[in-house]
Amino acid sequence: MDQHNLSEHVAAATQTTPHYAIDRLESNAPPRIDQSRHSPFYQRLLNTTAPNSLQPDLPIDALEANASPQHQAHSIDASARDYYFLFDQEHLQPTTATHSSHTEKPDVITADRFAQTTANGLVFEQIRRDFPILQQKVNGHALIWLDSAATTQKPQAVIDRLVYFYQNENSNIHRAAHQLAARATDAYEHARQVVADFIHAASTDNIVFVRGTTEAINLVAKSWGVHNIGAGDEIIISHLEHHANIVPWYQLCQQQGAVLRVIPVDDTGQIDLIALAKLMNSRTKLLAITQVSNALGTITPIQQVIEMAHQQHIPVLVDAAQSIAHMPTDVQALDADFLVFSGHKVFGPTGIGVLYAKTAILESMPVWEGGGNMIADVRFEHVIYQDPPNKFEAGTGNIADAVGLAAALNYIQKIGLQHIAQYEHELLQYSLQRLQTVPSLRLIGNPQHRASVMSFVMTDYSPEQIGRCLNEQGIAVRAGHHCAQPILRRFGVEKTVRPSIAFYNQHDEINQMVDVLQHLHRQRHQERSSF
Ligand code: ALA
Repeated sequence: MDQHNLSEHVAAATQTTPHYAIDRLESNAPPRIDQSRHSPFYQRLLNTTAPNSLQPDLPIDALEANASPQHQAHSIDASARDYYFLFDQEHLQPTTATHSSHTEKPDVITADRFAQTTANGLVFEQIRRDFPILQQKVNGHALIWLDSAATTQKPQAVIDRLVYFYQNENSNIHRAAHQLAARATDAYEHARQVVADFIHAASTDNIVFVRGTTEAINLVAKSWGVHNIGAGDEIIISHLEHHANIVPWYQLCQQQGAVLRVIPVDDTGQIDLIALAKLMNSRTKLLAITQVSNALGTITPIQQVIEMAHQQHIPVLVDAAQSIAHMPTDVQALDADFLVFSGHKVFGPTGIGVLYAKTAILESMPVWEGGGNMIADVRFEHVIYQDPPNKFEAGTGNIADAVGLAAALNYIQKIGLQHIAQYEHELLQYSLQRLQTVPSLRLIGNPQHRASVMSFVMTDYSPEQIGRCLNEQGIAVRAGHHCAQPILRRFGVEKTVRPSIAFYNQHDEINQMVDVLQHLHRQRHQERSSF
């Protein structure tokens, strides 16, 4: 190839691969998989799934759309029994395929089909098949996952995407003169685009990949915060916050001599906007607030809060960890200055999360961690940093899981967050009604607007006891302080039981949980009557 042809070829390749020119130098075809090199697990997957599913030379989008529900039975290691309150469980059932339909290729669920089928329940057959972990039995009962506020389960599309990445694309990104680096770089930067689109960010430059919500907030506190908040300044948070949106601000206040102010909540568990108006003043430098409370499920009036803060020129950080999977997010419509979330709360992998910030803010922020990848030039006397977002991504990032996160976001986009929100709202209302039929149960908080989460306590039982009894029936809920001690104390409790739902839950699962709670109530009642 002469120099002229080579230049043309590179120019053409650069147009097709925005981040790394060499990916399609040889051909425009997507990467092919040498089937003979698959692991036995993956071979089985290829051999037993229907045509079109996981075919090696399908583009990734097609692979995601046709994700197979195939999975293998895992036996749970007996040593795993010795954790937390599970130690006294008689037996953790090995995972078994309980639905004969596992071997069939699932239909791809689209928004239309989800909307059509939620009424008659058909959708659950399909959705449940997309989540292989939900096929298992725990303690002899079909697993009922009511702990999505802690972490969501992963659809096969995400699992397949991770497998595909490690089998075909794995490489460190940027600066390598080889094909796999090109693929990995493209996959990673494409993931940034998927995230930007998902939250309606103006540009991929507004998207910084981090480990999760906690790291995102710490990044803002330690970079933007140290630069912009000094002695006597004030930071406003709400009483609803998760520890991740309290402790970094507490630490910053300690370090800088600033003051933490807290928006109170009313007895329903909603923030008090009149109190917020009074809290804001010329010393207020930031308002950091959750969009959905992880302990009560309260949906805060985030749009109104941002408008109020902006009238006083106060920037706002939105903790979207608990909202991202349950309602559409539009950072531009919200006019959020910062918005943060974790991949694992939105059906993606753990260890990957997102910091969104407005361009001018990111550009003004000092770097926080130093190292490779975030620099443009290094001399002993002087270091020049990259522009955002790279200047905040020191070292080798979580490449595969960023790619997995994009697969998760694509998956839920196909269903549509509007449909998910509508369905979950109805399921949540049903769940709250059912819980209130248990006489000795007290719901903590009763906000008019809530998503996903319910918190309760029961007379005569500790939250852990209730969690253990539910677990015996295969029902997974969280019991404890939920990393939100201040709001629980506001309601006079240290711990609650916290079931939380996602779109893969169904009414009958709620019924089964309530049956156990009714049983516990009756048991105590009878014990009392017999004295
Ligand atoms: N933040 C997670 C929760 O709310 C752990 O459960």
